[in-house]
Amino acid sequence: MRVHVLGAGIIGLACAVELLDRGHRVTVVDPAPGSGASRAAAGMLAPAGEAWHGEPEAGDLGVRSAALWPAYAARLGVPLHRTGTLLVGHDAGDAQLVARQVELLSGLGVDATELGPRDLRDHEPALGRVVAGALLAHDHAVDPRAVVSALLRRVELVPEPPADRPEVTVWATGSTLPPPYDALVRGVRGEVVRARCDDPPRHVLRGWVRGDSVYVVPRPDGEVVIGASMEEHAGPPVVTLGGVERLLVAARALVPSLDGAVLLEALARDRPATADHLPLVGPVDADTFLAAGHHRHGVLLAPLTARLLADAVEGGCVEGAVDPRRFDLPGAHPDAAEPHVAAAERTRA
Ligand code: GLY
Repeated sequence: MRVHVLGAGIIGLACAVELLDRGHRVTVVDPAPGSGASRAAAGMLAPAGEAWHGEPEAGDLGVRSAALWPAYAARLGVPLHRTGTLLVGHDAGDAQLVARQVELLSGLGVDATELGPRDLRDHEPALGRVVAGALLAHDHAVDPRAVVSALLRRVELVPEPPADRPEVTVWATGSTLPPPYDALVRGVRGEVVRARCDDPPRHVLRGWVRGDSVYVVPRPDGEVVIGASMEEHAGPPVVTLGGVERLLVAARALVPSLDGAVLLEALARDRPATADHLPLVGPVDADTFLAAGHHRHGVLLAPLTARLLADAVEGGCVEGAVDPRRFDLPGAHPDAAEPHVAAAERTRA
């Protein structure tokens, strides 16, 4: 099939490469590839650290996609940071948040080894004051910019939609879907700070400092990504002094040596969030598909999304939890109810 993928973030690119690998003719359209949410993403492959109460389906998708990442990263030639994640609480109130997360994970059947302050510091000498924590041994990290670069090398990319008419269009434009699908996603602002230091923590750190949520994600070259605020807002995602201050105060409480780190960049992007915080992966019309709305999990879910999207384009069944048709789709084409029929017709044509 001739496919146009609109959007060259990690999701659009992963979908495009999967479709190419399956023999389809794919063009990716984006005037500014990799400049959306993927640019700010810390790259946590963290189904445990990023699990949320009341979101079991997202947890299940995360665990399945995390299992794909080692082979996926190897195929792209991008290293995985595999030292696990330490969940940490700075004070007694934060310790309660750690305990709640561990309880949530044990209900989901996910490993979390609780550690006291001394064990935490044995694991991670860079830690400052922490009173409670847990090792999430299977939560890893990857550099999303390296992944985007590797994927970009494999696709044909153009800045504007080509004149030829594709058989299938995939919208992978994050939080800016076209009407009538724009109402399915809202932007949830996240601010991150990138810095470089001589003695970064060995583990990904995820936790709370005086109630503020924060993570510190080290890269092998000494760069650290400190994130991330989460804010429902209108208007463009801008970096605010208050947001950056809260991140830095929390990160430096967890890792005091960050005080001497060199500031590289502060940036803000919108996470594309749906009403149920599950992504949109599947058809909305006979020849129109969405791969968007991944909220906090775009990097983690990229390999699984690529498979699910390609299966759907080829007329396979669409997974209910991510099927865009679970929402009321204003103006959707009636064929959207029978995508396998449309796929069969495309294949015959
Ligand atoms: N997954 C990290 C974030 O959304 O901030």
